[in-house]
Amino acid sequence: MDEQTSKDLANWLEFYRELGIEDFYRRSASALGGAESGPRPAAPLPAEDERPVIEARVDAPLPRPAPPPEARPPAPPPRVTPTVAVAAPIRPPLPTFSLFETPAPKPTGRETLEQIRADLGDCRRCKLAGGRKTIVFGEGNPHAELVFVGEGPGADEDEQGLPFVGRAGRLLNRMIQAIGMKRGEVYICNVVKCRPPGNRVPEKDEIETCSPFLFRQLEAIQPRLICCLGAPAVKTVLGIKEGITRIHGQFYDYASSKALATVHPAYVLRNPREEKILREDFEKIRQFLNEK
Ligand code: URA
Repeated sequence: MDEQTSKDLANWLEFYRELGIEDFYRRSASALGGAESGPRPAAPLPAEDERPVIEARVDAPLPRPAPPPEARPPAPPPRVTPTVAVAAPIRPPLPTFSLFETPAPKPTGRETLEQIRADLGDCRRCKLAGGRKTIVFGEGNPHAELVFVGEGPGADEDEQGLPFVGRAGRLLNRMIQAIGMKRGEVYICNVVKCRPPGNRVPEKDEIETCSPFLFRQLEAIQPRLICCLGAPAVKTVLGIKEGITRIHGQFYDYASSKALATVHPAYVLRNPREEKILREDFEKIRQFLNEK
């Protein structure tokens, strides 16, 4: 660099220092879209539109007024792209729960499903205990707006310990999806928690022994709507003995919830023409839950 260029540069540095601009760096030729280059030979200052972009970091102080024109050095200033250092944003305090988890529900003072399950224990209260493999307590969202109550576990449920996981369960899943919900959003349980031998209908004494656990589950969840699937559920929850094909699709009161009866999915599998009933009743469920 010749003496004059060096003086010009010193003047410019001083000028920018007065503006509060302290740090300078030059973009590499590649960053400017040109070829990578080593040290450049001394060259006359480039024409205005070819001037190299010099980025400067402007630290906190605002630029002071420019010096009077006579104090300015003669050479045209290089094009400057100031990168104003913005103070790092103050982070809000981290929430105490992960944004991807459901926040912990407020305590309700009610019995929880875990407590009811613990009380049920390795139940031997009725004769169904002798033939079962697994107790099928129930599954799903403990804060569900919608609870399904079936009759009792079948072979698949007894094997897996989960309600409605066999063919009837797959139909139930499809119906749940058809009204825009996911199985995990609802709660599913049965009148009796152990499989009746040969999938027979649960007997009166079995229902009387087991149904208090169902009532406690409903009390713990307090859903907006209980959907009774099939006659034993309707009789147990609503005390209605009338034929299900006559009373299906109607809304009843159950404590602070509403309840609706529909045909059991297993019945629809045996009588495919009756799927229409199930569909119509699920549409009522959808409409009910969409009313706020
Ligand atoms: N039928 C029921 O009533 N409940 C089940 O869990 C499965 C089939």
